[in-house]
Amino acid sequence: MSYTVVKCEVSEGIATIIINRPDKLNALNKTVMTELERAFDAATADAAVGAIIITGEGPKSFVAGADIAELNAQSPLSAKDHSQFGQQILFKLERSGKPVIAAINGFALGGGCELAMACHIRYASDNAKLGQPEANLGIMAGYMGTQRLPRLVGKGIALEMLLGCEMITAQRAAEIGLVNKVVPQAELIGEVRKLAKLIMSKGPIAVRFTLEAVNEGMEMELEDGGFYESTLFGLIAASEDMKEGTAAFLEKRKAAFKNQ
Ligand code: COA
Repeated sequence: MSYTVVKCEVSEGIATIIINRPDKLNALNKTVMTELERAFDAATADAAVGAIIITGEGPKSFVAGADIAELNAQSPLSAKDHSQFGQQILFKLERSGKPVIAAINGFALGGGCELAMACHIRYASDNAKLGQPEANLGIMAGYMGTQRLPRLVGKGIALEMLLGCEMITAQRAAEIGLVNKVVPQAELIGEVRKLAKLIMSKGPIAVRFTLEAVNEGMEMELEDGGFYESTLFGLIAASEDMKEGTAAFLEKRKAAFKNQ
């Protein structure tokens, strides 16, 4: 598959999707979003892929936001379409059933921060800066920043970021729970791949259902979430991997999961 502003590499069962527009700090324009969706669909459909990493090209930026030149030309209707177009791509990431990890290698601003927040886990390099600076431009977050940020860091800190528009350091992002871990930039991809491999060593159906239970359950009432969890817990008992994983423990050997 050919791309112009995205790169996609698959090795050791891990798909790495790289936003590749470094001259514009990997800002998200329509082409980037379209290619990101295609690359993501391909990685999701590829049975050989067990985890997906999203990162930005170059040492400076993960994604410095939506493309401001495109924003400047938008009308009310096109802006709404643009927001919904991006949102549905980010929902795809969240609901793909495969773990998606953001490797935040520099600026993650606006749509970049929102892209990272749609990933399941975020590791950042020590030079990374995160923020939601949209209000500086007289606009607001439109790729679910007003929804995912308060869920991740709480309402007060989210509003401070969304209204004050100050960039925060990777270290501060870790303190508030916006990123899971901060590592030196040279070690970022290695650390993220290590985590991907760790998750891929687990039962894939268990990983998929756990992602579903957390993603969907968090939006439900507690008891409804619990009911949903029980249903998935029951469903997983029908899998060969459940038999294999539990038998392997009892037989003191390593489980050989088949995703069945
Ligand atoms: N959209 C379009 N172009 C962008 C961009 C964006 N979100 N962010 C950066 N760029 C472009 C710059 O216009 C510049 O292009 P040019 O060389 O053709 O002039 C290039 O990327 C490099 O950016 P520059 O501003 O020169 O780098 P810097 O190191 O001085 O500053 C930032 C880095 C991230 C602080 C600054 O680029 C910035 O504030 N970007 C906008 C962030 C933002 O508001 N994002 C939310 C958008 S909703």
